[in-house]
Amino acid sequence: MLQNPLQFSHTLLEQTVKNGDTVIDATVGNGHDTLKLASLVQSEGKVYGYDIQEQAIESAKLKLEKAKLTKPIELMLKGHEHISDLPLADSSVSAVVFNLGYLPSGDKSIITTPETTVSAIKSSLPLLKKGGLILLMIYHGHEGGKEEKDAVSDCVSQLPQKEFNVLRYGFINQKNTPPFLIAIEKK
Ligand SMILES: C[S@@+](CC[C@H](N)C(=O)[O-])C[C@H]1O[C@@H](n2cnc3c(N)ncnc32)[C@H](O)[C@@H]1O
Repeated sequence: MLQNPLQFSHTLLEQTVKNGDTVIDATVGNGHDTLKLASLVQSEGKVYGYDIQEQAIESAKLKLEKAKLTKPIELMLKGHEHISDLPLADSSVSAVVFNLGYLPSGDKSIITTPETTVSAIKSSLPLLKKGGLILLMIYHGHEGGKEEKDAVSDCVSQLPQKEFNVLRYGFINQKNTPPFLIAIEKK
């Protein structure tokens, strides 16, 4: 009955993202989250997607074409540390989604990093509209994952309580290093 962190992140998106909204997928990968976001904003909305791997962008494009959900989407072959370059006003975005770690079925040595992830979170905060969300799925079992988890946790735990709710959601009795979700809500 309990949703796992990834399922819960999609439930939060369903509750938050509406037809016509602007959203960002900061780590497109194979496009699962991009597809979810595109289905929520529909053709009146806009999805900006970032990934540094051509393989990921191509794989996501195929998935979106199959689902006939290409209209609201702009996929970019560049890092999410460039989010601040988007032509977006403050308080105009309803969700920014991060899925950290490496591309499943891809090169496991290409991973998200503490510096660029924290920089992208900081650039995303002012873009959030009231009630908007930054969702971070934290995978941290791989080499380099702990450093990124610590850097992200350190950054988000210091966000002012008056402006943001910050939630950590995950199972605490699973073996190894189970992923967890961090959700940041703009108040
Ligand atoms: C865990 S995967 C994302 C999975 C994706 N959400 C999906 O549905 O398949 C992490 C992705 O982040 C990408 N990545 C690594 N560094 C990045 C950066 N600086 N900016 C954007 N994407 C990056 C990797 O290439 C990889 O595809």
